[in-house]
Amino acid sequence: MKRDYLAVTDFTTREIDQVFQLCRAMKQKKIAPKPLEGKTVGCIFHKASLRTRISFEVGVAELGGRSLYITEKEIELGVRESIYDAAKVLSRYLALITIRTFSHDDVVQLAQHADVPVINALTDLLHPCQILGDAFTIIEKKDKLDGIRLAYLGDGNNVANSLMNLARRYSVNLVIGTSKETMPDATLLKAAQNEGPGSVSVVYDAKEAVSGADVIYTDVWASMGQKHEAAEKAKLLGDFQVNDNLLKLAKPDCIVMHCLPAVRNAEITDSVMDGPNSVVFEQAENRLHIQKAIMLALLDEDIWKRK
Ligand code: CP
Ligand code: NVA
Repeated sequence: MKRDYLAVTDFTTREIDQVFQLCRAMKQKKIAPKPLEGKTVGCIFHKASLRTRISFEVGVAELGGRSLYITEKEIELGVRESIYDAAKVLSRYLALITIRTFSHDDVVQLAQHADVPVINALTDLLHPCQILGDAFTIIEKKDKLDGIRLAYLGDGNNVANSLMNLARRYSVNLVIGTSKETMPDATLLKAAQNEGPGSVSVVYDAKEAVSGADVIYTDVWASMGQKHEAAEKAKLLGDFQVNDNLLKLAKPDCIVMHCLPAVRNAEITDSVMDGPNSVVFEQAENRLHIQKAIMLALLDEDIWKRK
């Protein structure tokens, strides 16, 4: 049966470890598989993107295939025709579909009806490719995920939600520092807290959140589709800015992460983003390697059976 990657929790811990292995091998150029030779991947983007779109298109080319960039204007998914019909037709042309859109339910529906793998390239709810790439970056820097104290500061958005999902696969100690008005998704928070193996707590004080952290992570205060709320969010989240004073409270070798794009000197200061603890551009690079590994794993079912 075909597999999809819509959420970090679509893969078991063992499967994610296998994806990391593939990612490492391709990054180090030990393997250069071409599972997409003669095949086309559809990249449906209903929101702007620099990293995700370009790393997917480059990744597809490096895996031997070609990509098609498809915007809302052309296909009007769910408007011009049903998602079911679109999924059935697209499956007859494409080997794989990546989609970035607003509604997570639309992506679930597309995956349900498509006969080829679907990858979530970001929805309002989740950003699973980002978080798997980030987890790989943490392992590169800290040699492990288990036991890592990860402080996420800012809006309880798709990135925060996917970090909570990561805590359902690894023993990450995630502390989310945010305001009461900008909480992450309540259902996913409960699931992460109930299931483990990691822990997730929410605190309303930035200093408490970053104290003793191995990793500090932040993201824009107003995500795509919410830019009209930017002023309001800035008021609510101003105290959660990642700056030099806050960084002093974390472990000295703490790494600072941001999925980008950043609003410099809002959620993160220039001095931290350009400082020695920052790994933001390594994160961006790893998007390419991890997405190649995710595509490879979804295209070759035998990969899951390997030891
Ligand atoms: N981090 C990320 O997904 O960036 P883009 O929005 O530019 O794709
Ligand atoms: N939370 C951000 C992430 C961008 C990569 C957004 O959804 O706009």
